Parts: sequence; C-alpha cells; structure tokens
Amino acid sequence: MLSYQPLNPTAVSEPVRVDVHAGQYPSTIWIGNGVSQRAGALLDAHGVGRTRFVVSSPVIWRLHGEQVSRALGGVDPILIADGERFKTLQSVSRIYEALVLAGADRGSAIVAVGGGVIGDTAGFAAATFLRGVTLAHIPTTLLAQVDSSVGGKVGVNLPLGKNLVGAFHQPAIVLVDPLLLATLPRREFRSGLYEVVKYGMIASPALFERVTSQTKAVFAREPEVLVPAIVESCRIKADVVSRDEREGGLRRMLNFGHTVGHGLEAVTKYRRFRHGEAIAYGMLAAADLAVARGALAERERQALATLITQLGPLPPVVDLPAGEVLEAMRRDKKVVNGTLHFVIATQVGATMTIDDVTEAELHAVLVRLGLTA
Ligand SMILES: NC(=O)c1ccc[n+]([C@@H]2O[C@H](COP(=O)([O-])OP(=O)(O)OC[C@H]3O[C@@H](n4cnc5c(N)ncnc54)[C@H](O)[C@@H]3O)[C@@H](O)[C@H]2O)c1
Ligand SMILES: [Zn+2]
Repeated sequence: MLSYQPLNPTAVSEPVRVDVHAGQYPSTIWIGNGVSQRAGALLDAHGVGRTRFVVSSPVIWRLHGEQVSRALGGVDPILIADGERFKTLQSVSRIYEALVLAGADRGSAIVAVGGGVIGDTAGFAAATFLRGVTLAHIPTTLLAQVDSSVGGKVGVNLPLGKNLVGAFHQPAIVLVDPLLLATLPRREFRSGLYEVVKYGMIASPALFERVTSQTKAVFAREPEVLVPAIVESCRIKADVVSRDEREGGLRRMLNFGHTVGHGLEAVTKYRRFRHGEAIAYGMLAAADLAVARGALAERERQALATLITQLGPLPPVVDLPAGEVLEAMRRDKKVVNGTLHFVIATQVGATMTIDDVTEAELHAVLVRLGLTA
C-alpha cells in the first residue's frame, strides 16, 4: 500500500519539486502558483533545448499566450485545433511540417501548452520527430496538471479508436501552474477533480478527506487547498510511474475507475462525458464490485459515493445498455491476452487488481449503476 503525508498547507508560496525516475533522462515537475511565468529560467536551468517550439491551441493561446510568450522571451506558437477529434496523426503531421519549416533540429525542444489533448499530441510529435526531441509541458487543465502531463504516455487517436498510437516519452520538465486554471470552465475543472479523488482512493485517505471537507475551497481554487491537492496528486503519480513506467503491474492501479469509464466513453463516442465524469462512474462501479465481493466495507463505498455526488452532477447513464458497455470494455487496451485486469478498492487509500471478474458480475454492477439491463 502506498501512503503519503499531506503537505503542510502553509508551504504553497514556494514551488515544489517532484522528480520522476523513469525513462533515460531526468524528468522534473515544478508545481507552484506563477511557475509558468518563470518558464524561460526554469527551462534554461534544466537544459531544455537550444531552440524551443511552443505547441498550443488558439483558445489557450488567446487566454494565456501573452504571458507564456513573455516568460519564454517571445514565441511564434504552432497552433493546432482544440478538442479530442483533433488528437490525430494529421495534427501531428502539421506539427512536423511547422518544425521542419522553422529549421528545428535534434537539439530543439517542444513545449506543449494546453490540456491533455495538446499535451498528448505535441508529446507524440516530440517522441517521434527526428526519432525524438526534448519535451516540456505547461499543462493548463486540472486533468493535465495532475495526470496527463505526468508519466510520459503520449499519443493520438485513430478513426477506429482512442489512444491507439503512442509512445512513452518522459518530459524533461513539467511546469504546473495552478494560476492557469483560473480561466478553466467549472465542468473541465470538475473533470480533473475526479482524477484527484482517484489518487485519494488509490493512495491517500488524507487527500480524499481534504477534498471531501473542503470541496467549496477547492472549487473556489483557493491556493492553500488547491496547490497541496495538486502536489500530492503529482507525487502519487510520479511515484507509481517511477516504480513501474510501462504498466507491468503497479501502474495498473492508476486505472482505478478506468475500465468501466472507458467503456462509457466509447459507447457515447466520447461526446457525452468529460473524461473525469466517466471515471467517476467507473470508480463507483469498481467500489460496488468490491463491496459485492466482500473486499471493501460498505461505509467506504458510501464515502466515495457521497463525495462524487457532492462534487456535482454527472451526465445520465440510464439510456445506455449495459451489454454495449461490456462489449466496449472487451475491446479496451487493458485486456491483455484475453484477461481483464480490474482494479478494485479495498479501502479509501488502497487498491488491488483482480483478474477473475466475470461478465455477469460486471453486468450486474452496471445495472446497479443505473444502466439499462
Ligand atoms: N497521457 C496520459 O497519461 C493521459 C492521461 C489522462 C488523459 N489523457 C488524455 O487527455 C485528454 C483530455 O485532456 P483534458 O481533459 O485536459 O482536455 P482538453 O485538452 O480537451 O481540454 C479541455 C478544454 O479546456 C480548454 N482549456 C484548456 N486549458 C484551459 C484554460 N486554462 N482555460 C480555459 N480553457 C482551457 C481547452 O481548450 C479544451 O476545450 C484526453 O485525450 C485523454 O486521452 C492522457
Ligand atoms: Zn484518467
């Protein structure tokens, strides 16, 4: 079981450093209000690229471009359209072309400024351009700050499915600046918050408890509450990835809630749910299954259900046939050699993986979740 000390809430003014020990090169995360304004100096200090190419989206660049550009000493960004449907090889191609035209070489670095879509797409370009150039992330969504920019998974979608093409490419540096979240719409913010809840469920009862008792302050993005929650989430992910970069076993715990979550996203063609919302349902399902097996106490499941309700409304699932979600789950990447590795909670703060879940069991869980039998 992993266990984490909550961060001293007064320590939010200084940036916090978290190191990821994976991949061939050092990978460092700096977390703190205002770190993106020091991007130039921090990238210099970490030896990131002689020439730097920023990849962002028009929306994000309009909101935060001026400030990021100033911090980097003036940049002419490569802008790719926002949204999951542009997380494609075509977008990657556009990045390659812009890099070639601008004279990028193996000493250049790509700086991804955006949410998970921009980070995954620009990250894949960095992993593959000239067989790999240095990558830096400046994540601008809560989901990207606590999850997608940490751990080195990069990739794009194919018309046949999500994240089917990708690589492991650790960023040299990640600058997590919670001030950038000020402009994030509430629903996007909440979507990232469900991943924070996930970290609480897999490794930190203290984090879980703080999100529960300080939900209002979290939504108000109060630094004393938000910054430590982001730091702790990054520490947990960094630690798990450092011990198991390529998902041999331990990293699977990060998939808590994701088996059912991905199934829900797939049957609704990625349109109905924000990623975290689907994961919220997935965590409820995984907790329910754990209770049914006697692995989790009902009051712990109830604590999770209460917190998820408290965080806000989720899109409905009543019209979704359980059988279709099961079918989508069968096609998911997490099925290895025909075996589904399913992560369940054993208490708030601990999980285990089981590989003998039956379809009947899953079907019953989905129906109890509210899906059509
Ligand atoms: N690589 C990984 O390990 C990993 C992990 C989890 C998720 N992901 C991927 O991440 C993607 C989802 O990322 P996401 O949730 O960040 O979505 P996203 O990148 O689509 O961003 C969500 C929306 O927020 C807007 N936005 C971004 N920053 C903003 C800001 N500061 N202010 C206002 N608006 C802002 C964007 O324009 C976009 O419309 C998915 O493609 C998923 O597969 C990857
Ligand atoms: Zn996720």
